[in-house]
Amino acid sequence: MNKILISPSILACDFSKAGEEIAKIDRCGADWIHVDVMDGHFVPNITFGAPVMKMFRRHSEKFFDVHLMISDPLFYIKDFANAGADGITFHVESDSDIDETIEEIKKYGKIPALSVKPGTPAQAVFPYLDKISMVLVMTVEPGFGGQSFMADMLPKIKAIREEIDRRNLSVHIQVDGGIAEKTAPLVKKAGADVLVAGSAVFGAEDTSAAIESIRNA
Ligand code: DX5
Ligand code: ZN
Repeated sequence: MNKILISPSILACDFSKAGEEIAKIDRCGADWIHVDVMDGHFVPNITFGAPVMKMFRRHSEKFFDVHLMISDPLFYIKDFANAGADGITFHVESDSDIDETIEEIKKYGKIPALSVKPGTPAQAVFPYLDKISMVLVMTVEPGFGGQSFMADMLPKIKAIREEIDRRNLSVHIQVDGGIAEKTAPLVKKAGADVLVAGSAVFGAEDTSAAIESIRNA
């Protein structure tokens, strides 16, 4: 099993001082910085776009793990790539052509990943596993932080991990939604190796301890 990576989601930060919040998770041991982009169409919530992300970028050199919850990711890849994304994750349920979007991400030298919502089966990503670096399995309905972890997603994580191993591929499995010290061992056991956590990191008194407790749980 790969080393466990922790990607705190800034969705749960105090956006009035986002720069300081990003610098803090950087200092406190985050491996990646998870950036949630929502368009109010693919999900019923709006966050921010590439110009705002470009400003966040100034506060950390860490890997920017950009999660696009938007209807037409293909159209925006260029903007997020130029704004400093390192990895770009888009949804298999979006309206964009999946192969074209993966190619567009690679064209800008960025790392492509595909995400599945809770209602989408594991098999939806199987045709793309040899073209991407990561699968993001949503463990809540995308759109909001602070929701409860859906334990019924564990078999999906396991099925994707088995398919990756069966084909001898090297693909990360990321989980996002309701990840905390209690749920982390379950997703790791199922085969996830990149854990996103919003409330569990930003809601904690001691940020470093929160990150380490999720990593080592
Ligand atoms: C939800 C976002 C998540 C969210 C996770 O749509 O994709 O990244 O911030 O928040 P928690 O960890 O609080 O469930
Ligand atoms: Zn996310």
